[in-house]
Amino acid sequence: MAHTGSMNPTLVVLGASGDMARRLLFPALFGLEQQKRLGGLRIVAYARRDWTRQQCLDIIAEGITDLAGLEIAKSTWARFARRVSFVKGDLIAEDFRQLHECIEGDAAFYLALPPDLFPTAAKGLAEAGLSSETKGWRRLVIEKPFGVDLDSAVGLNKSLHTDWDEQQLFRIDHYLGKETVQNILVFRFANRFLEPVLNCNHVDYIQITAAETLGLEGRAGYYEGIGAMRDMLQSHLMQLVALVAMEPLAKWDNDLLHDHKVEALRSVRPLRPADVKKQAVRGQYGAGSDGVAYLDEPGVEKNSTTETFAALKLHIDNWRWAGTPIYLRSGKRLASNLTEVAIHFRQPPFHLPGNDGFVPTGNRLVFQLRPHESINLAVEARAPGFTMRTESLMLHADYEESSTSASASYRQLILDLLENERTAFLRFDEVEWAWRILDPVLKAWSKGKPESYESGSDGPEGQHSLLQSGHRWRDLTEDPLPKHD
Ligand code: BG6
Repeated sequence: MAHTGSMNPTLVVLGASGDMARRLLFPALFGLEQQKRLGGLRIVAYARRDWTRQQCLDIIAEGITDLAGLEIAKSTWARFARRVSFVKGDLIAEDFRQLHECIEGDAAFYLALPPDLFPTAAKGLAEAGLSSETKGWRRLVIEKPFGVDLDSAVGLNKSLHTDWDEQQLFRIDHYLGKETVQNILVFRFANRFLEPVLNCNHVDYIQITAAETLGLEGRAGYYEGIGAMRDMLQSHLMQLVALVAMEPLAKWDNDLLHDHKVEALRSVRPLRPADVKKQAVRGQYGAGSDGVAYLDEPGVEKNSTTETFAALKLHIDNWRWAGTPIYLRSGKRLASNLTEVAIHFRQPPFHLPGNDGFVPTGNRLVFQLRPHESINLAVEARAPGFTMRTESLMLHADYEESSTSASASYRQLILDLLENERTAFLRFDEVEWAWRILDPVLKAWSKGKPESYESGSDGPEGQHSLLQSGHRWRDLTEDPLPKHD
């Protein structure tokens, strides 16, 4: 029987010396300490290093300040440090048995490890008895990438399911911890005016952009052979598609929510090999005023065909969305940091004749994640003055208070994990459906090479070939608060 909550659970961070733990996880935990949200949580840092506990604490503190840019107040640090113990160990049976001895009651195991080690770690923990819920709940947290294609994702899920129950698995996508992403469902379903027009009768197209100015940042070991399609579109952007496109919920229920997300992903029209050229575009950054070419980054093969930009046009074949394309794109070393979901409405059916100043344009609803966590609605109104004419206004609700940093989204997700709130984690079939959509593209892209684009630009020219007449990609150098066309 699964337990739901306890006063003093333990969070074991496997891979505590790695970049992920130091850059994101420990800073998120420390942030929660600052907000006094950790209760009686005990933290076990588990790594292969020959560290003393003090050395481990020093490395964690360095990550919090130098990598995450947080300030450490002495008293908060003292409280945090008291929770942390260090256990030296590898992913082998003997070490897991020792780990078992440090765990009492409820425990979550966070695999902050390279993805190829997930099956070994998950199995090893289970064989040491650490998945058994006889003495408290046991949860396993894994990070994307969940496989590198459909077959490997199915294989990974199978291997996890041999030792762990789906209810014990927490697949993290940090976008789902972002304030604005969580707001998509609330805004859609808590407002009477919106849902009736959120369909193909009123929406012309949807555009989802995740543009970054950063390049590889020394992550060649992870990124080479993965690329933008797997790194961003398969995970974060496909989640945004599911949240924007899914049907309303009858109640706030974990299974129902995931059923609806899966239903939306299942409705995406499968791409045939012949569609890939028309519906998918890839690019790789060349040199530019703000950086070296991808091929010159340390650790990158000289003839690498890994894409650093991917764009995709999807059709959703259901009553709600038939005929409304969804455009997705994401890339590194682009002109600005901009992540948003923009819903472009159709033009009003009728333009008032008799006054040339009346130039209504389609409305636009934009959920912006970066640079400003905000919700924006572009509307037409009367321009002030003596002449009767229209002007475009942006109604803007700012969530700037909530931090846009990745470690801030991890805070939310860690609390959800401890409270068994599973809605912001991925179910196995969601992951598989996202791969199913992209598999034909990945297969086609195993040959040929990406189009080069200038570092600091809007990405490859080829992206424009995806657009239907009257649609346009948002210019990345425009004011980050979306203006009207
Ligand atoms: C990660 C990707 O999942 O998301 C990175 O691996 C990317 O390549 C990052 O930079 C973007 O996250 P955010 O929160 O900064 O938009």
